[in-house]
Amino acid sequence: MNALAPAKILKQHLIDPEICIRCNTCEETCPVDAISHDSNNYVVDASICNHCMACVPPCPTGAIDNWIKVLADKAYPLEDQFAWEALPAEQADIDAGTNEETIEDTSAAADESASSQDGFGLDGVPSTGAGSRIAPKSAAHPYVNLYTHKNPVTATVVGNYRVTGDATDSDIRHIVLDFASTSFPILEGQSIGILPPGADSSGRPYHARQYSIASPRDGERPRYNNLSITVKRVTNDYDGNPAQGICSNYLCDLKKNDTVQVIGPFGNTFLMPNHADANIIMICTGTGSAPMRAMTERCRRLSKEMAFTGRLMLFFGARTQRELPYFGPLMSLPQNFIDINLALSREHGRPKRYVQDLIKERADDVFSLLESDNTCIYVCGLKGMEEGVLEALEHAARQGGKSWPEVHARLKTQGRLHVETY
Ligand code: A2P
Repeated sequence: MNALAPAKILKQHLIDPEICIRCNTCEETCPVDAISHDSNNYVVDASICNHCMACVPPCPTGAIDNWIKVLADKAYPLEDQFAWEALPAEQADIDAGTNEETIEDTSAAADESASSQDGFGLDGVPSTGAGSRIAPKSAAHPYVNLYTHKNPVTATVVGNYRVTGDATDSDIRHIVLDFASTSFPILEGQSIGILPPGADSSGRPYHARQYSIASPRDGERPRYNNLSITVKRVTNDYDGNPAQGICSNYLCDLKKNDTVQVIGPFGNTFLMPNHADANIIMICTGTGSAPMRAMTERCRRLSKEMAFTGRLMLFFGARTQRELPYFGPLMSLPQNFIDINLALSREHGRPKRYVQDLIKERADDVFSLLESDNTCIYVCGLKGMEEGVLEALEHAARQGGKSWPEVHARLKTQGRLHVETY
């Protein structure tokens, strides 16, 4: 009797459409262009994906972290994945165990996949991208994906305030959502998804849009079960042509007592250190200030009880002072609590300044903070600033006589440099 040739089995990398919030992070991160999307789903091309794992840690929801065993010649094609509303079960002949298995070499991916569920335990894994793939060592443990597209939670709007000057084009709002008796535990640096009502041109309900949380873990109002987000009303597309952002306009127009559908929380690496003598360097533009506000407010509350003694340094970029969200409250913070550096690019009669210009000007102070293992750096805002900010940090390291590649690598492997740009 002829022995059956062993079937070749592949652990196919797939994206869970039920959890994915279509933020495009995976597609941007994938170094081999294996990930693409249509108006329905993000998908992975099995013939291109080499299981390098670069896309897994940056995914805020973990939707990217799915590996299903399939017969290698029956990998799910892109057309199938585009149409899915949920991940398929494992293929029947594999479940039944009737084939001998020759598992393709995916052990590194599988190991890392398991540990990346909570964002920890990746020490020593070479990282890609500018930022860390792990949270700072003292970060509190986050909850993620408690609520998904299938079971969103209803929150009530308890506040919607404009935080930019009235006479400017920049309508940025601070929106406070209350969860009543529903548990929605969050940490500073995490985000939520909002499901805007309505459907796209093909009749599918709109996908969730992701917003960084702007309030600390104990609530916008301490000990209330609420949180805040910072939302900019989108009125132009990337090319500057008029276009109304579906979710941002929905949110900016909400009134007190309106309700919204929320999913999340998301994010397990862009988290603040959780020890009293941590230093935090925050670099942001526009609504990228949301996580910085959350962290700053957390530290401010802790410092009142002497539970935070570290240094805070903020570099914040906006067109003008009136277009800088939270300008008033920021200016009322004591100088010995936070070192504020505002980079204004279109202030009449003043030279154009970007955050990276100010980092270079403060290179000595930035370097002395960088030198301490207690210092974490957070960058959030326009994608365009990423390169300039990294160059400015390199400048600071060089000025201090250090090799930037070495400093950068240490920051990344220690979970001390976090970058979220869009
Ligand atoms: P600019 O005046 O050149 O647009 P926005 O208001 O569009 O959200 O931008 C916030 C701030 O970020 C603005 O001051 C903007 O300046 C600035 N900015 C734009 N591009 C970059 C960049 N590549 N690096 C740093 N800051 C930038």
